[in-house]
Amino acid sequence: MTRKLLVTSALPYANGSIHLGHLVEHIQTDIFVRFQKLIGNTCYYMCADDSHGTAIMLSAEKKKQPPEEYIDAIRKEHIADFEGFYISHDHYYSTHSEENKQLSEDIYLKASEAGAIKTKDIKQYFCEQTKLFLSDRFIKGECPKCGEPDQYGDACEACFHTYDATELSNPYSVYSGEKPILKNSIHYFFDLSKFKTIIYDWIQEDHVTEPVKNKLEEWFKVGLKDWDISRDAPYFGFLIPNTRDKYFYVWLDAPIGYMATTRHWCDTTKKEKFDTIWKSKEYEIHHFIGKDILYFHTLFWPAMLHVGGYQLPKKVNVHGFLTVNNEKMSKSRGTFILASDYLKHLNPEFLRYYYAAKLTSGVDDLDFSTDDFTNKINSDVLGKVVNIASRLGAIIHKYGDGKLSSISDNASDMIDAIRARSDKISEYYEALEFSKAMKEIMSCADIANQFIDSVAPWSVAKEDAPYAIQLCTAGMNAWRYIMIYLKPVLPQIVKGAEELLDSDSLEWKDLETVIEDTPINKYQHLASRIRLEDVEKIIGQEA
Ligand code: MSP
Ligand code: ZN
Repeated sequence: MTRKLLVTSALPYANGSIHLGHLVEHIQTDIFVRFQKLIGNTCYYMCADDSHGTAIMLSAEKKKQPPEEYIDAIRKEHIADFEGFYISHDHYYSTHSEENKQLSEDIYLKASEAGAIKTKDIKQYFCEQTKLFLSDRFIKGECPKCGEPDQYGDACEACFHTYDATELSNPYSVYSGEKPILKNSIHYFFDLSKFKTIIYDWIQEDHVTEPVKNKLEEWFKVGLKDWDISRDAPYFGFLIPNTRDKYFYVWLDAPIGYMATTRHWCDTTKKEKFDTIWKSKEYEIHHFIGKDILYFHTLFWPAMLHVGGYQLPKKVNVHGFLTVNNEKMSKSRGTFILASDYLKHLNPEFLRYYYAAKLTSGVDDLDFSTDDFTNKINSDVLGKVVNIASRLGAIIHKYGDGKLSSISDNASDMIDAIRARSDKISEYYEALEFSKAMKEIMSCADIANQFIDSVAPWSVAKEDAPYAIQLCTAGMNAWRYIMIYLKPVLPQIVKGAEELLDSDSLEWKDLETVIEDTPINKYQHLASRIRLEDVEKIIGQEA
């Protein structure tokens, strides 16, 4: 039975370039999406730029651009970066859209009707120089617990203590460096505790992994707090209905951006109805996010969906953070690697493969190590996979007129062994255990290479060319299966394989067939080995 899925990656802020950290998520999501399509499921992949908030407003001001112009330019840049890595979004939109405004207002008004919105008069730091209220990330001071200077308004990076901004000693505004004053303002709050049962039941139903579930249970124990969903003018965002100067906090309309993107795509392509996707069980909704934004996606988001009359996500998949040579990505160390800088020096599919080889369904961080990357790519992608086609292709053209014959009789065990891995590999892809999937696939490549080395068609060719071609036909069929297995990860190399094999677009069901007595094209270069020096070029670029 085929399934229908709507899949999302978290919406990158329209306030900076795409970096290798973002790509962990987009590559993970894209592999999942491509796998779903490969096995014949209906799957649409939606994403957008998260275009609102104070930081974006200020960046636009700094560039002396209207925010609309600023976010437009960034969006174009993001789209180009993602295309560079073959990320196959069906639609990449922006949260600053009419669709998003309507959906956000609608969900807010429904929450209000349900009695889940309340107002409170709160005291907040205010920067008199810039006339801005200071959210947690825009105020710094000394940690109230350990005294560490220059800590943000919500948590200390030295001792991990969390606190209210008002508890900081010697606070200063990040905008002006000046001491802020405390000022009163009315804020709107979303009463999360009203949805306690809905959220709790949802968490019990296998929508997140066990460790994530445990984390959520911890939050439940602490108690669900009211969520401040308003920000004072000036703010780049949507005005809250029936107010004059209160805006939705960017995190209110950001996840609704998943829906708004779907709506815009439905309206323009007419491929599906919005309500069918977001309101009926015909579709499964799968979100991919980093561990830093778990709270928003597993507590607030289900509550918002519920009150809006939408279905809750089938899966919220949470990944860990990328480190570079075992350190946190950092601009000063030059390890804050931009997607565009990577693309200047290295093949995008190598990063796709490297991440696939490291990714699990867990929240552990993963490391980009220049040495390990170089070795892994050369040994797996080049040495084990691409090598098969370049070696066999040459023999088939030299001794067999570029035509496959039948598969040699001695190859059936080898081919069966490779085909027998398909269920396992498919389960691993589905369960986001890509690392395990890549291990299985590489062991298929080992089986194929051992066969080829043991029968040595290049020596056989000199005495018995027709038999050598049968051996090569066996090897090429093994390679074809490996290409099907790798298609979610290496779409471009597999495109080259399809051209080489003179084949239609390969699908999972092509594992049921073999190719014999058919011409193939000349081997065209699929990928080159890399050197550590080349990989090191992406480190230390000006961010
Ligand atoms: N705009 C919000 C998400 C809104 S979703 C409704 C946001 N944007 S972000 O640009 O900061 O991050 C986008 C995604 O990239 C998040 O899932 C985040 O976890 C992920 N990553 C950002 N840096 C990362 C690493 N260094 N490593 C892995 N993922 C990282 O949060
Ligand atoms: Zn501290």
